[in-house]
Formats: sequence, C-alpha cells, structure tokens
Amino acid sequence: MDVSLIILAAGKGTRMNSDLPKVLHPIGGAPMLHHAMRAGAALDPAHVIVVAGHGAEQVKAQALAWDEDAKVVLQTEQLGTGHAVNQARDALGGFAGDVVVLFGDTPFLQPETLERMIAARQTHDVVVLGFEIAEVQPRYGRLVMDGDALVRIVEYKDASQEERAIRFTNSGLLACDAQTLFGLLQEIGNDNASGEYYLTEVAELANARGLSVTAIACDEAETLGVDSRADLAAADALFQTRARAQLLEDGVTVIAPDTVYLSLDTVIGRDAVIEPNVVFGPGVTVETGATIRAFSHLEGCHVSRGAIVGPFARLRPGAELAEDVRVGNFVEVKNATLAAGAKVNHLSYIGDATVGAASNIGAGTITCNYDGVMKHHTHIGARAFIGSNTMLVAPVSVGDEAMTGSGSVITSDVEAGALALARAPQVEKPGMARKLFDMLKAKQARQRRGS
Ligand code: UD1
Ligand code: MG
Repeated sequence: MDVSLIILAAGKGTRMNSDLPKVLHPIGGAPMLHHAMRAGAALDPAHVIVVAGHGAEQVKAQALAWDEDAKVVLQTEQLGTGHAVNQARDALGGFAGDVVVLFGDTPFLQPETLERMIAARQTHDVVVLGFEIAEVQPRYGRLVMDGDALVRIVEYKDASQEERAIRFTNSGLLACDAQTLFGLLQEIGNDNASGEYYLTEVAELANARGLSVTAIACDEAETLGVDSRADLAAADALFQTRARAQLLEDGVTVIAPDTVYLSLDTVIGRDAVIEPNVVFGPGVTVETGATIRAFSHLEGCHVSRGAIVGPFARLRPGAELAEDVRVGNFVEVKNATLAAGAKVNHLSYIGDATVGAASNIGAGTITCNYDGVMKHHTHIGARAFIGSNTMLVAPVSVGDEAMTGSGSVITSDVEAGALALARAPQVEKPGMARKLFDMLKAKQARQRRGS
C-alpha cells in the first residue's frame, strides 16, 4: 500500500512568543519540522505534503531543505486541523493510497509507531493514534472507545464532565485511505467551542457511514507536543538524553555525557572519544578513533580517523580534517581542508584554505582571508613549515616543503622549497639597553623626590 504524509505546520504557536514559526524552533540543532519529516520518512511516502501558514516562506525553505521532493501548500487562514488537511487535497492529485496526518510540532514520534498505524489499517478504515495521560489535563481530545472501536473524539473544550475524565487521549495522528478521508472532510462543520473545522470529527462521520474506526496507543513521551519555550527546553533536554544514550550504545567513549550537546544529524564513529563540554552543532561527522577534547565547538565539519581536536578548538562549516590531523587549543578552522597529518596546534585561524599533508602551522598563524569586501583562498603545500605568527595575506600560496619565518607577513606566493622572510631585519645596538635602563631609573627617582 502506498502511503503519503500530510504534515500540519500552519499554526502560529502564539505561546512560543516568537517571530519564528513554531515548527522551525530547533531541537537538537534541527527544526522540529525536520524531526517530524524524519519520522515520516520511515514509511517511504509517495508524497510528503507540508501545510504551511504562519511564516510559510521560511517553513517551505526548511521543508525543502530536508526533502527536496516535499510539496508545501498554503493554508492562508488557520480554520482548524480538518481545514488544514483539506488544503493538501489538490497537491495529492487523486492519490489513491493511504494518508497519514501528523503534526509538525511533535518531534518524538517513532517510525515504529507509524508502521503500527499502517498495520492496523489492514483491519480498520480509520486508525487514530492515542496515548494514556498520567493525570487528567485540560488539553487533548478524548477518545471515546467501545472496546476496540473508536466511537468519537471529543475536544476537551467540548467534552462533558464524564468525557473529560477519560485518560485515553488523541495524539492528533490519523491514518486513512485518501479518497475516504477527503470525502469525510467534506462533511465536517465548525459548530463547536472553538468554531474550527476539527479533523477529529472524521471519526464520528466514518462511524455514521458504517466504516470501522479504531485507536491504537503509543507512549505519552512520543506525542509530546511543543507549545511554549518551556516545552521546547524540556523537549531538547529529552532529545539530548536519548541522543547521548544512543552514542554510548554505538560504542563511543563519552566522558561526561551530560555535558555534551548533540544535534539530530550528529554522526560519531565507534571508539571515538568525546571529552567533557563539547558542542556538536548541525552537520558534524566524526570518524572512528578520533578524539574531540574538552570545550570544543564543532559545526558543519568532518573529522577523520585518528584526528585530535581541541581542547578549546572551534571547527566551523566546511572544516574538513583528514586522518591524524591535529587541531589544538584556541584554533579556529573554517571552510578549510587539512590533509593527513597536518598540525595546527595553537592559537591560529585557518579560513578558506587548503593545507597539504604533514604540514606544520606555527602558533599564532592567521590566514588573512577577508579584504573587507571579498574572501580569498590560501593554499599551503605538503610538508610545509609555517613559522609562528605568520600572516598569510590571501590570495596566496606556499609551495610544498617551503618555510616562512616567524612573524612574516606573506603577501606573495612562496615557491616550493623556498624560505620566505617578510619582516623587518633585526637591528642590534650594543650597550644601548643598559643606558636606557639607567636613564629611566634616574627619571623615576626624580619623580619620587617630587622635583
Ligand atoms: C489537536 C487535536 C486534539 C489532540 C491534540 C494533540 C484537533 C481538533 N484537536 O488539538 O484532539 O489531542 O491536537 O496535540 O485536531 N494546524 C494547522 N492549521 C490549523 C490548525 C492547526 O496547520 O488551522 C496545525 C498546528 O500548527 C499544529 C497542529 O495542526 O501543528 C495541531 O493544532 P493545535 O492547534 O495545536 O491543536 P490542539 O488544540 O493541540
Ligand atoms: Mg497542540
């Protein structure tokens, strides 16, 4: 059976108190929307339709960043979840398989749960995903069951006292054959406490048509919705706890797991070592056996086998470290490739550069990549030696096995095997220091006497 996804993401998220649309707030460095799309991708959907409204342009860009084949439809007015689903109809263009509706703000949904919903569709026309709430709360629709049959879903606001006491509640997810679903949506109204077109009404309407409607249960944590900044912080904490546990299970040595921050797409190989207080922003891959030492910050970079990074290193997007590279303390690397065995051990900035194999970059080296308007490239060959405190004024190239003298400001290319010195020659004045000291001490003594 072919499956398509409809992901609802048009809501404003008023309680986030933010200009950013709710579904774009990040958890583990990735917008919540990506988490939902990732869970849905497990069903190998024929179509992915994202219903956007508030901040639609931004939502669209992020939806396409995750899945370039996703279609984004606009819900100009947020008239309810039923109305939102209906906006996806044309984009599905007569699709005849199953539709799974999910929300863009429920980041912990497990792919297995979606698979269970699809499995339940074998025996029921409409499948709703529910969860047991630990304590009664004034939110969530109540699932009115009769054995396995879901009789109707009633929103908390519209529920009777008796119904409000029900603990089996609606997650919002629903699976149904597309044609049936859109047929049922034609019949829904907005005569309820919120004046909205509720998706939940399709349960009762399906029963009226003699269709079979059921609800299956998942964990409360899985359908945890994010409505406020506090929810977001709690969701991120939960994500981190799980991601850290997964790393340990994957055979990574993490010395103080609670201090390591991970992203949704962080990939770390077996037997890599992660020291305390390391931040992995989006887009980081670390190969097996690499070591990331304490207090390092990494994003959009790749660290190969055997490389050692930090402590206190910063790898920015486009940092590509080959095997056995060393990037030491207070070194920043951006958009630069360091070939095997290259070393930048202390206090340097390497940006927009290529560094050849086994080259050694001395402390305090700066690639001066920005002229105030444009960025320029620095090339350093293999087995080169860059003296401490060299300024490499890009665009510039230093050949294989070349050297630069400490403190040089290199503005022209250096040939392979050459030594480049670009600093003022040293001048020495015999006895001058002693004379200067005497003069200064005499001056100090006069001042103390007040003359
Ligand atoms: C909904 C369910 C409720 C369930 C709860 C679970 C309905 C009527 N109610 O209520 O039974 O227990 O979720 O969290 O479905 N959205 C749109 N367009 C709209 C309205 C909503 O795209 O016009 C999107 C929102 O952005 C959000 C999702 O749909 O991602 C759910 O909307 P929300 O307003 O949070 O519904 P709840 O009141 O939480
Ligand atoms: Mg909600």
